[in-house]
Amino acid sequence: MHILPAALAALLSVATATPVAQPKVHQDHARSPYAVKETHFVPRGWTATDDSTDQLLDLKIGLKNKKFADLERHLYEVSLPTHHRYRQHFSKEEVDNLVRPDEEASSLVNEFLQDHGISKEQCRYSSAGDWISAALPVAQVEKMLNTKYSVYKHEDGTTMIRTTEWSLPQHLHEHISTIQPTTAFLRASPKLQTVLESPDADFNEDDWDPPSATDLISVCNFEGVTPACLRLLYGTDDYTPQSPNSSIAFTNYLGEVANRSDASRFLTMFRPDAVSSASMFDQISISGGPVDNGTAGAGYEGNLDIQTIAGQVWPINITSYSTGGSPPFQADLNTPTNTNEPYLVWLEYVLGQQEVEQTISTSYGDDEQTVPQSYAQAVCEGFAQLGLRGVSVLFSSGDFGVGSNDTCYSNDGKNTSMFLPAFPASCPYITAVGGTRGYPEVVAYDTRNGYVSGSGFSNYFAQPAYQKDSGVVDKYVESLNGEYDGLYNKSGRAYPDVAVQGYRYIVIYNGSVITLDGTSASCPTMASTISLVNDALMADGQAPLGFLNPWLYTGAGEKAFTDVVNGSTTGCNTAGFPAAAGWDVASGFGTPQFPTMLDILGLGDS
Ligand SMILES: *[C@@H]1O[C@H](CO)[C@@H](O)[C@H](O)[C@H]1NC(C)=O
Ligand SMILES: *[C@@H]1O[C@H](CO)[C@@H](O)[C@H](O)[C@H]1NC(C)=O
Ligand SMILES: *[C@@H]1O[C@H](CO)[C@@H](O)[C@H](O)[C@H]1NC(C)=O
Ligand SMILES: *[C@@H]1O[C@H](CO)[C@@H](O)[C@H](O)[C@H]1NC(C)=O
Ligand SMILES: *[C@@H]1O[C@H](CO)[C@@H](O)[C@H](O)[C@H]1NC(C)=O
Ligand SMILES: *[C@@H]1O[C@H](CO)[C@@H](O)[C@H](O)[C@H]1NC(C)=O
Ligand SMILES: *[C@@H]1O[C@H](CO)[C@@H](O)[C@H](O)[C@H]1NC(C)=O
Ligand SMILES: *[C@@H]1O[C@H](CO)[C@@H](O)[C@H](O)[C@H]1NC(C)=O
Ligand SMILES: *[C@@H]1O[C@H](CO)[C@@H](O)[C@H](O)[C@H]1NC(C)=O
Repeated sequence: MHILPAALAALLSVATATPVAQPKVHQDHARSPYAVKETHFVPRGWTATDDSTDQLLDLKIGLKNKKFADLERHLYEVSLPTHHRYRQHFSKEEVDNLVRPDEEASSLVNEFLQDHGISKEQCRYSSAGDWISAALPVAQVEKMLNTKYSVYKHEDGTTMIRTTEWSLPQHLHEHISTIQPTTAFLRASPKLQTVLESPDADFNEDDWDPPSATDLISVCNFEGVTPACLRLLYGTDDYTPQSPNSSIAFTNYLGEVANRSDASRFLTMFRPDAVSSASMFDQISISGGPVDNGTAGAGYEGNLDIQTIAGQVWPINITSYSTGGSPPFQADLNTPTNTNEPYLVWLEYVLGQQEVEQTISTSYGDDEQTVPQSYAQAVCEGFAQLGLRGVSVLFSSGDFGVGSNDTCYSNDGKNTSMFLPAFPASCPYITAVGGTRGYPEVVAYDTRNGYVSGSGFSNYFAQPAYQKDSGVVDKYVESLNGEYDGLYNKSGRAYPDVAVQGYRYIVIYNGSVITLDGTSASCPTMASTISLVNDALMADGQAPLGFLNPWLYTGAGEKAFTDVVNGSTTGCNTAGFPAAAGWDVASGFGTPQFPTMLDILGLGDS
């Protein structure tokens, strides 16, 4: 993926047009000694092996966004309903201008690369010039970063080339935010739980009959949730999308593929009017990510996402992004899979596009502590850029409650007991979606596979202004009366923000009916509902919702969502955080009411 747009060419020519100051800068800093830039502990489950690391890394250097406070202020202003700039989203160029590094930073980093024999032609520059990437042999990166890489192996067999500490010449510390792959051990694990094959006989593909009545009891079987049930529950069943320009996307990692033939069978059974979307949805391969080309297979997560979304948003255009694990110019067969860090690769691509879908669902995540804070911050800032451009970015909240039993310890060498927040769910610039089950809806769990909807408080991101100002998080924390004190961070960003059905969805996989659990199911359903709201706004000539949270926490959450009051996010060998009346950290504001959303946006008669 070579992205070298015009904006960057301009930047480079500026840099070379000022030769007078440069040699001096170079000489001053050439002697700048190395100092450790970052250390991060090896997360639980990973051990270093003796395997050879003789490979290429797709090294990504992030230049510090020194004006992020400005970007954040703009993001909050355009996302806050009471602000006069509400929904005046920024164009790609406007956002690029906000994140473009200053000339000094760019030239110092380019100089550093040249000192290591890396030419500009070898590098890819992100659209705003804030990321520089190059495929480099490990040995060369080791010299540049004064470090030593190892092949780490996870208990489950996954391998990655990583290090636990890296350094940079001191004068570059203030200009570089993060360099990856180094210390981020994150894997984008799909947030879905054990597949439960062959549900109740009434979902047999051959004798499936759609329910004849239209009431909830007839339409919904909560042991096998269908699009008809979701549309009825959340009030989207009467809405027909109207804007030719509205679109929704979901993301695939780890080789997941959304299979068209399975989607077609699913829609034939459960949403016959939408069958053509199985052949029409757009597939974009980033960095060699697989697409359904007739031989690529299928994945549980990919199938769940396309079937869930197509079942609810037809005829809105759907895009499936598949981000590959290794760079396309990979030269070495010895390379482990997943050597690349996933989100930065996707962000580099999507932020480089002129037009981006208004709603994007991602059902992947990992423990926050598997990544260093600098990496989490850099990725989270990328999502903030999407928000400022008017994109509603949604992530699933995770499937292990407050953390899997017996795994809830810090990685920092101290082995402190703690709840385990998930990333990117903990990022304050995205909307985190939890799971519910049954009716009336309670916090989702499944005793057959240990699934419990994820929730928690970030240890990296402070409670954002929209949560602080609304007071709902502090009020909830107070209501806990000291329970779990010391296990979670009261001053951290709390999630999920909202919740929606995430239990026993019917999915067609490899031609057969199965059911799947997980907030992986919740996220595409919430995204579908939001995408219909965005459609209604756009059909009315208005801008889409963009970043949802300021809107949710200043009234929409309480008015347009149904409170979930029962259940808890069991985990870490505790009962976890309980749901309660009003916002709670188990289910956020609860489940969406589409007609009320339209009402409060002044679109009531649609
Ligand atoms: C929707 O898809 C159709 C068919 O692929 C395409 O012509 C149209 O431009 C797309 N619209 C948007 C908004 O992407
Ligand atoms: C759809 O987008 C195109 C191109 O941006 C624009 O010209 C057109 O007015 C839009 N249509 C509607 C109904 O918003
Ligand atoms: C189809 O995709 C798979 C997986 O990405 C790839 O290995 C294969 O070469 C592709 N086949 C064709 C014909 O493009
Ligand atoms: C999709 O699944 C069908 C079975 O339903 C299978 O025959 C087909 O090969 C799969 N498609 C791909 C691209 O693997
Ligand atoms: C952390 O502490 C727990 C409980 O005391 C113990 O079971 C576990 O082995 C410890 N882990 C490490 C890495 O020390
Ligand atoms: C929720 O809890 C209340 C009080 O504990 C109980 O009366 C009610 O039946 C519960 N509802 C559900 C759906 O579990
Ligand atoms: C708790 O969160 C705050 C705000 O993000 C952070 O500064 C602090 O380091 C966190 N504490 C721990 C123990 O992680
Ligand atoms: C798909 O189903 C066929 C039989 O219909 C079976 O042979 C094959 O192993 C299945 N593939 C997967 C990946 O489950
Ligand atoms: C985890 O521990 C809790 C509390 O001890 C227990 O209720 C729950 O069933 C356990 N979960 C799993 C998956 O074993």
